Amino acid sequence: MPTLGVNIDHIATIRQARRTVEPDPIAAAVLAELGGADGITAHLREDRRHIQDRDIRLLRQTVRTHLNLEMAATDEMVAIALDLGPNYVTLVPERREEVTTEGGLDVVSQQERLAQVVDTLQQAGIPVSLFIDADPAQIDASASIRAQFIELHTGPYADARDEATQAKELQLLAAGCERAIAAGLRVNAGHGLTYWNVRPLALLPGMEELNIGHSIVSRAALVGMERAVREMKLAIRGEY
Ligand code: PXP
Repeated sequence: MPTLGVNIDHIATIRQARRTVEPDPIAAAVLAELGGADGITAHLREDRRHIQDRDIRLLRQTVRTHLNLEMAATDEMVAIALDLGPNYVTLVPERREEVTTEGGLDVVSQQERLAQVVDTLQQAGIPVSLFIDADPAQIDASASIRAQFIELHTGPYADARDEATQAKELQLLAAGCERAIAAGLRVNAGHGLTYWNVRPLALLPGMEELNIGHSIVSRAALVGMERAVREMKLAIRGEY
């Protein structure tokens, strides 16, 4: 079975909505690990809209499983990764106006630049994963620049509106996974996975890690609501 990387960006999104100190993504990472997370994933964006530099530094010191740093392939981020030494880096495309990471990385058209970044990080002992669509050309290009991992973009599968489309997208992911493994790549997947659509992905032969954020943070907010309100009532009564 694949392992679970828990993406904690959304905890930082809630904090940044008020530019305050809570909820702290470091505390969320500790609790995720207590719940059985096999890894913690955080995306340090160029615009710092959620995770901050301080968070990444503290996560590096506190995460007991493994830390997957998602980042764009910029000089600034490469310098941060080299300084920090995460357990692995996932390179993602980044556009300022997007709500979240939208498409996969275009490895084919940026092969030279990405090859340099992959080489710099891997020479420093940091394995690199490339977040790509399940497209044979992108998979082959990822293998040719010798990334250790790819992360297959499961967004189109997760967003499918009907069963036939979902089955077709799952088939593309299955074929992509098989092709990547045959080319010597290790395979993770993520984006848009939920409690209801995760299982078929978990069954793909050779799938190593699933990175999941939104669905887990959404559920955490709801399953914790009752207790949070009860505790605020206690605080009002001076009984907390
Ligand atoms: N993998 C990558 C590369 C991502 O950018 C994201 C979203 O930050 C995820 C996985 C997690 O996606 P979700 O929050 O939809 O579970």
